[in-house]
Amino acid sequence: MKERYSICVVGAGHVGLVAAVCFAELGNNVLCVDNDKKRIEDLTKTILPFFEPELEELLKKNVKKKLRFSHNLAEAIKKSDVIFVAVGTPPYEDGSADLTSIENVARLVAKNLNGYKLIVSKSTVPVHTGNKIKETILRYRNNHTNFDVASNPEFLREGKAIYDFFYPDRIVIGTDSSKAENILKSIYSSIKAPIIVTDINTAELIKHASNSFLATKISFINAVSKICDLAGADISKVALAMGLDKRIGKDFLNAGIGYGGFCFPKDLEAFVWLSKKLGYDFELLKEVKRINEQQKSNFVNKIKDSMWIIKSKRIAVLGLSFKPDTDDMRFAPSVDIVNSFIKEGAILNLYDPESIKEAKKIFSSKGKSSLVKKGQQVKFCKDIYSAVKDCDCVCFLTEWKQFRKIDFKKVKKLMRIPFVADGRNMFDKVKLEALGYSYIGIGR
Ligand code: UDX
Repeated sequence: MKERYSICVVGAGHVGLVAAVCFAELGNNVLCVDNDKKRIEDLTKTILPFFEPELEELLKKNVKKKLRFSHNLAEAIKKSDVIFVAVGTPPYEDGSADLTSIENVARLVAKNLNGYKLIVSKSTVPVHTGNKIKETILRYRNNHTNFDVASNPEFLREGKAIYDFFYPDRIVIGTDSSKAENILKSIYSSIKAPIIVTDINTAELIKHASNSFLATKISFINAVSKICDLAGADISKVALAMGLDKRIGKDFLNAGIGYGGFCFPKDLEAFVWLSKKLGYDFELLKEVKRINEQQKSNFVNKIKDSMWIIKSKRIAVLGLSFKPDTDDMRFAPSVDIVNSFIKEGAILNLYDPESIKEAKKIFSSKGKSSLVKKGQQVKFCKDIYSAVKDCDCVCFLTEWKQFRKIDFKKVKKLMRIPFVADGRNMFDKVKLEALGYSYIGIGR
């Protein structure tokens, strides 16, 4: 079996673009297709649609050699042996996923089946989607050319996506075809990771179960942080000691203002919806979501308790993306927290190393979803020190590395009232109090 493939990746979003660039880096010929023409033009000129460490370098290295971009999916399908589907599956109100784009791809594959193709779903999809793709292709194909369908869920994290692609904890291949299994094993042959081969339904469920479990871990520690607040204990030490038990593990035990991003909130909703559809009420996950929501209001309430009146007070908010090393603000806890401050009538100085452009779309008075009232001041700052100037409170919402190097003596001179609200438990409470700050964190 040949080791290099002609691969088509459908969808140039976070999952698709990273996969396309990395498959090219592994030596395959890759065509990355998206129906957003502007995005495709930009990518051809190596302009990225989002920030992701190391992606630009790998894109520049491979573009126009092993990697090409196109908006013509039909042509791309004809030229490819393996088609990875990484299109968006946006959520409906009830938590179910809109799978229209996946169906469209399946129909186009059916119409352009000019030789054996392997269609691999990489998007996070509800169980049974792989089988639906198969049925759709069988229904619409106009010849009897063979094809296979597989599920190969993607577990990469934003901000660490390239690393996660090349050093995954595991690779999951869901298929009932040994030919498909061998092709996928061959594509990933230079990556050292355990490969789990399952049927398609199981592979699809692994992705939902993994994300939901991680979200559960976060909500569990956040619930314990609430108990720590009430009991006068320190959640950081509780988490450290718990995490040293290998059965628990230390990762995903950082208490904070809750999880955000486009995956956990959406995937959790989708899993609850899916379970209900299958006949199981996944109440545990509903509680995970409730704890996550509460975590943001608990934090705002603590700040309110300390400041008493928020109206007309100047608050610096440092860190707006849902986590460090990304400019992504989708479902970021900062959105709800900043909006609470806006509703209270605070004056805001906002700063983030990467997501100010996104923040302007949400919070500037011209933004579509903005709650900013006429005359209310919301400033988008260029750096940390201009953001904290004359503030009554500085709030940390994302644990960017650069925040850990902050000169708190300098910050104290610039602030009106030295008050730190640490939404990610980044700082040493004792040290800050020794410098003269009032400090609130999460569960400590
Ligand atoms: C997640 C999964 O980790 C990844 O496997 C999947 O493919 C996509 O969803 P991502 O959304 O990029 O990845 O972010 P992740 O690093 O997992 O963090 C998710 C959220 O949880 C962030 O808001 C982060 O701040 C929060 N988090 C994480 C905590 O609050 N505490 C923790 O201990 C860990």
